[in-house]
Amino acid sequence: MVDTAPVPSPAAPLPDRSVVPAVWSRVTNVTVDHGAGSWLVATDGTRYLDYSSGIGVTNTGHAHPRVVAAVQAQAAKLLHGQQNVVYHEAGLRLYDRLRTLLPGGPWQAFLSNSGAEAVEAAVKLARAATKRPVVLVFRGGYHGRTAQTMALTTAKNVYRGDFEPLPGSVYSTAFPYCYRAPGGPHLPDAGCTCDWEAQLDLTLHTLTYPEHVAAILVEPVLGEGGYVVPPPGFLPRLREITRAHGILLVADEVQTGMGRTGEMFAVRHWDVEPDILVFAKGIASGLPLSGIIARRELVEAWRPGAHGGTYGGNVVACAAANATLDVIEEEGLVANARARGAQLLAGLREIQARHPGVGDARGLGCMVALELVRPGEGDGRAPDPARAGRVIAGALDRRLIVLSAGAYANVVRIIPPLVTTAEEVDTAIGVLEESVAAAGA
Ligand SMILES: Cc1ncc(COP(=O)(O)O)c(C=O)c1O
Repeated sequence: MVDTAPVPSPAAPLPDRSVVPAVWSRVTNVTVDHGAGSWLVATDGTRYLDYSSGIGVTNTGHAHPRVVAAVQAQAAKLLHGQQNVVYHEAGLRLYDRLRTLLPGGPWQAFLSNSGAEAVEAAVKLARAATKRPVVLVFRGGYHGRTAQTMALTTAKNVYRGDFEPLPGSVYSTAFPYCYRAPGGPHLPDAGCTCDWEAQLDLTLHTLTYPEHVAAILVEPVLGEGGYVVPPPGFLPRLREITRAHGILLVADEVQTGMGRTGEMFAVRHWDVEPDILVFAKGIASGLPLSGIIARRELVEAWRPGAHGGTYGGNVVACAAANATLDVIEEEGLVANARARGAQLLAGLREIQARHPGVGDARGLGCMVALELVRPGEGDGRAPDPARAGRVIAGALDRRLIVLSAGAYANVVRIIPPLVTTAEEVDTAIGVLEESVAAAGA
């Protein structure tokens, strides 16, 4: 039968927004027309400074011309070259390149589509390689929305609360959250008093045995959990502990990777070599691509066919990723992330000094945040999600897009594209200062 339904013309009015299910909780009601660099342009012509980067994805900015050209050229040649069926140039070049992005090794990459899917790959690899069942995670961590990754996620109840029972043999332990330390807020420096190591030790004496643990999964900087930067000794000590017990260290760099924190991967800040590193988001500037980089002998523990997927390593996404890596390397985006991040954090610290409702200003590279509190209440750290919501809404009114984070949604997180300029950062600081003042903080 021929389908005779009329094809809507491009000029037809847009369908009502209710066609999109409300499960996509909304950050803005903007209908976007196009993006360029740090900016999104709405269909009504309004320009927004996008310091959400599409949740940490558009590290090269929106529609970087080199990435667009690579995508267009590849799309004209081949849209799908399935990895079990054929090899393709874009994929071969990317696999080769990924294994050189970390010192040490030898490394081998595996390509998939989403961050969650790559975390699943890391867990499957860790279990297959160690023949151990248990995975340990840190409270406040976010690893995705599939069944396995929900079980690994403890950032907020909404991500998992309606979906029990979840896969087992996953236990969580304390992340060093210096601002919220039981002994009082302190800077994440060498004097850190967080008891994460004692808590991990307790976990390994109460919930499981170290020799049953396949992997400890950690975000080097907590993302959805509130942009929490750990003290400098945390990851190196975790590396020592995992090595001592034959436990694999898996770094979830889905949000922190691809230059975001001022290093290509955040583990480099502490000179820590994980066994498996998970990446996604910034790798392909917006096309769905993810994967892991793991020690080669671990990847070889997977028997052929033990893992895979129809779309993993899609050829157009691989072309976008190769161009993205070119841009990151040749346009100095890692150094820019460091410089612009430092500028932004200095501005946020000034805002914090002027507004008692801003309890903490923190971050690493272009991953920065303000934590909003009710200063007169309790010990002065009571979370204030309402005020954080007003700051985010106030920033949007002033054409700056930022996001929330944290278990209580009281953290304003700011994720500029790594191409952002000093002038744009100044604009954002000005907008945030006005928004914080208008929110009564
Ligand atoms: C650290 C981390 N891991 C995993 C994920 C899941 O990635 P995706 O949404 O692509 O499945 C995210 C997404 O925000 C993340 O921030």
